Amino acid sequence: MPDPFQDVDAAGEEFISSFADSMDERQSDPTMELIVASYLSKLTFPEDSLTVEVGCGAGAVTRRVAERANPARVIGFEPSHGFVKEAKARVTGHGNVTFEVADGASLPLKDESVDNLIMHTVLTHVEDPTPLLIEASRVLKTGGVLVVCDADFSKASLGNFPYDPLDACAKIFVREFVTDPHAVAKLQKLVSDAGFNVEDFSFQSRSVLDNDQMLPWVVETGKVLMERGEISQELHDGLVSEYRRRARNGTLYGYQVFATLIGRRG
Ligand SMILES: C[S@@+](CC[C@H](N)C(=O)[O-])C[C@H]1O[C@@H](n2cnc3c(N)ncnc32)[C@H](O)[C@@H]1O
Repeated sequence: MPDPFQDVDAAGEEFISSFADSMDERQSDPTMELIVASYLSKLTFPEDSLTVEVGCGAGAVTRRVAERANPARVIGFEPSHGFVKEAKARVTGHGNVTFEVADGASLPLKDESVDNLIMHTVLTHVEDPTPLLIEASRVLKTGGVLVVCDADFSKASLGNFPYDPLDACAKIFVREFVTDPHAVAKLQKLVSDAGFNVEDFSFQSRSVLDNDQMLPWVVETGKVLMERGEISQELHDGLVSEYRRRARNGTLYGYQVFATLIGRRG
């Protein structure tokens, strides 16, 4: 089955509202805040500047960017009408941000009109990142900055021991909800080929030890497997309780690696 993030509107309203909540939750995680704060600290936001987030989902990261860039303008572009509706409903108190429906390969922006362009966990969800990177290069000013932040999903784990059933959920989640788990490995070359000078490429690990931040990896995987008749409701409920049991007793071990690439348009 294709990754539903390739066409979120087709995935339906339940998917949209549940992932809008889970991306908000992910962004509230202290490690994610550190990752975003770190790349934002490398950008400048003069008053007349424009910062764009491409593939902004329900706007969890865009709101954070708008807070930092204020009073400079921020636009969140997102191909899903449903996510843009959620993003507009969730944004309060940020007069400098707007949201628009647009694909990252075709942005309604003039050439060389953007100062900073951010793609946060987007390129792992597209078949071919190149058209999005070329479009980023078109709209960015000379010297403008591209930030690509994404998970190396090939290394994600919920495993404590060989053949751990929770780790099987994590691996199936990646298979079902990510287009290219190895996209991070290809980033430097793709970004350079699109006309950027790579100035920084750094990694940050994220652990989930005592909270529900990776519970959607079990719940959403369970829903897919139940829909296909591959597992029962009882097994699904058991996996969810096992996640919660480990989160309570100190044995949960969710692990992800995030990469951040900073490129400057030459
Ligand atoms: C995991 S979500 C991340 C959302 C947001 N950046 C965040 O971190 O909260 C991936 C997003 O990429 C978007 N996406 C998928 N294909 C895209 C494309 N061709 N152009 C722009 N965005 C795309 C999806 O619609 C989805 O909102």
